[in-house]
Amino acid sequence: MAKDPVRVLVTGAAGQIGYALVPMIARGVMLGPDQPVILHMLDIPPAAEALNGVKMELVDAAFPLLKGVVATTDAVEACTGVNIAVMVGGFPRKEGMERKDVMSKNVSIYKSQASALEKHAAANCKVLVVANPANTNALILKEFAPSIPEKNITCLTRLDHNRALGQISERLNVQVSDVKNVIIWGNHSSTQYPDVNHATVKTSAGEKPVRELVCDDAWLNGEFITTVQQRGAAIIKARKLSSALSAASSACDHIRDWVLGTPEGTWVSMGVYSDGSYNVPSGLIYSFPVTCRNGEWAIVQGLSIDEFSRNKLDKTAEELSEEKALAYSCLS
Ligand code: NAD
Ligand code: LMR
Repeated sequence: MAKDPVRVLVTGAAGQIGYALVPMIARGVMLGPDQPVILHMLDIPPAAEALNGVKMELVDAAFPLLKGVVATTDAVEACTGVNIAVMVGGFPRKEGMERKDVMSKNVSIYKSQASALEKHAAANCKVLVVANPANTNALILKEFAPSIPEKNITCLTRLDHNRALGQISERLNVQVSDVKNVIIWGNHSSTQYPDVNHATVKTSAGEKPVRELVCDDAWLNGEFITTVQQRGAAIIKARKLSSALSAASSACDHIRDWVLGTPEGTWVSMGVYSDGSYNVPSGLIYSFPVTCRNGEWAIVQGLSIDEFSRNKLDKTAEELSEEKALAYSCLS
């Protein structure tokens, strides 16, 4: 029997991530090849004509899974009845700006859209915040939508996770699909900690630790980390625009794994509300290793954290605490 359509909201849908993301959703990349979808697309009035152009293209592409399109500049109409909300709308970082610089522009958007989601989204709506500063925007959304369960509000660090997998695969000249269990800890920013201490590669002789195969701790503790931390800036430098296709693809990965589950023995990185695991202060949206089952994520517990890692986990938590304070000062 055909499944009922799932309503997926994409905010900022006329922007560059939106343009890459909506066809992926309509093709089943996010929710699977047998899951019909109704797309809700929100943007601001100056982008209304472009948004309508995206809607026209969605119609023209004749996606079999796409059962309807709502394209609007009205947040209430956009949020009504949505089961999944991918929050991309906002002001992107330009060359030379830190993600913090876009804070004041974006936190007020997330405060007001929190209310629209809280009042009008479907019960148990899952929220993924992509727009930067992603962790802090998600935290603001959570705080101003108190009736949405905190487990339902997440932010995107899967792009950083995928970047880390990509770097290891290039360095070892192995398939990226054979590398797993890297971790992105903390903030989607240059203080994030890409950690390979528990990562493995599938080889003909079984799973081997990445550290053993790379056999170059100086690279893993140095250039590898900074390359992943700075990849967003490197893309902006090269394209004069921030990452879009990789961000859209990673957003699909995030929601797909959250809804459909992670493969046995594999974890992924998600920015989630901290419960104090790994002595990360609670009250922050912080990226952890998670597994997903039955539509719920759970932080992977019991991983060993050495002193090098501990310092890095703490540093990125400190930045998130500072961002939280700054966000509140922007709102007051
Ligand atoms: P973009 O400027 O191309 O698109 C943003 C869109 O948001 C625009 O169409 C704009 O009109 C719209 N918008 C602005 N205010 C809005 C509001 N109040 N409601 C609805 N829509 C609104 O930017 P982009 O390149 O698509 O990037 C979007 C965001 O994603 C940026 O904040 C960027 O920094 C961030 N980003 C995050 C990651 C990540 O991994 N977390 C990766 C890449 C980009
Ligand atoms: C990215 O990581 O590509 C985005 O967050 C864009 C940015 O601001 O770096």
